[in-house]
Amino acid sequence: MADIKLPEVELNIYSKNNPVEVEVVENYVATKESSPNFVRHVTFDITGTDLVDRIRVGQSVGILPPGEDERGRPHRLRLYSVSSPSTGEHGKKHLVSTTVKRTIEEIDNNLYLGIASNYLANLKPGDKVRMTGPSGKRFLLPENALNFNYLFFATGTGIAPFRGMIQDLFSADYKNDCVLVFGCPYRTDLLYADYFEEMDDKNTNFHYLKSISRESRRKDGTKFYVQNQISDQKELLYPILNKENTLIYICGMKGMELGIYKELYKQGLTDYLEIKKSPEGSVDDIPSDKFKHFIKPSARTFEEVY
Ligand SMILES: Cc1cc2nc3c(=O)[nH]c(=O)nc-3n(C[C@H](O)[C@H](O)[C@H](O)COP(=O)(O)OP(=O)(O)OC[C@H]3O[C@@H](n4cnc5c(N)ncnc54)[C@H](O)[C@@H]3O)c2cc1C
Ligand SMILES: NC(=O)c1ccc[n+]([C@@H]2O[C@H](COP(=O)([O-])OP(=O)(O)OC[C@H]3O[C@@H](n4cnc5c(N)ncnc54)[C@H](OP(=O)(O)O)[C@@H]3O)[C@@H](O)[C@H]2O)c1
Repeated sequence: MADIKLPEVELNIYSKNNPVEVEVVENYVATKESSPNFVRHVTFDITGTDLVDRIRVGQSVGILPPGEDERGRPHRLRLYSVSSPSTGEHGKKHLVSTTVKRTIEEIDNNLYLGIASNYLANLKPGDKVRMTGPSGKRFLLPENALNFNYLFFATGTGIAPFRGMIQDLFSADYKNDCVLVFGCPYRTDLLYADYFEEMDDKNTNFHYLKSISRESRRKDGTKFYVQNQISDQKELLYPILNKENTLIYICGMKGMELGIYKELYKQGLTDYLEIKKSPEGSVDDIPSDKFKHFIKPSARTFEEVY
């Protein structure tokens, strides 16, 4: 097994008490087809700030929305994963992007719009935004990134870091295998689909698998979730998963990681797991809140879910 050493990164060069003002340069819908889930790709110009050359893919930036909450306190900071590569969006190191989904909730006939996501999604080129960061040091590609195979699992906007990671890898002379498994409710919710499809067509070592959860069911009646690809795509995935230089990265909805760990455990792919205590019955019967007492990710598995 090659050494997995994550790079040293700088954290919180700008904090919530000392944010930096950056300008929006683009803001477009990240789905190919029109979707009722509004996800946007937003790019900021960080020219002249200490963020230039210091944001790594896998990190997040903080956004401070203007205004106050109902108690009169300034709106709190929200984090957004960087979706541009480490070399910058469009190959320009002064451009950094994120992928934001408008959060909308209907409760008792009242519609609630999430503060920061809708603020970001409404921005236009030329608008100024208060930014902090970078934050996060555990969800990075290793220093010797080209030496590994990757299995990336993403749900929804959890695709953000993988877009940049895949650009980082394939703009270098990457020869190993990289698989992106992306899960979303409907085909209309596929994010950056044109880019990933083109990558899949052009690179024999890049594989794009889609898990569309609400359009049809698997033979056993269960949903098409990202973790089911481990058994559904055995022929492609087993040879990759059985190589000792393969790493798994998971990003998106909280809960997806448990499904992936259960599937890895059932399939005997336990090098990706740290078994603290073997379950007496089925791994499916472990309650979510007790799961970490039984099974945790090993050093070969990285997760960022919330
Ligand atoms: C490390 C990290 C990375 C992240 N990366 C991304 C990313 O790349 N892209 C992304 O889109 N998100 C990302 N997030 C999530 C993001 O930080 C925000 O949590 C998310 O956008 C929601 O924030 P908001 O301000 O829009 O919603 P909030 O205002 O915080 O509201 C949260 C939810 O509550 C609902 N709500 C609001 N008021 C009420 C009320 N009175 N009663 C009931 N419900 C209400 C809103 O509709 C919304 O659904 C990330 C989070 C973390 C921790
Ligand atoms: N860096 C980070 O940590 C990071 C970055 C970006 C986003 N995120 C988080 O990622 C989430 C993405 O949400 P979204 O609204 O963008 O996603 P979405 O488009 O609604 O897609 C989520 C998909 O995951 C499926 N799913 C639900 N439960 C699952 C489970 N237990 N295992 C596997 N798949 C499951 C859903 O299926 P059904 O709904 O049909 O059941 C759906 O197909 C948000 O919670 C966001 O905050 C995290």
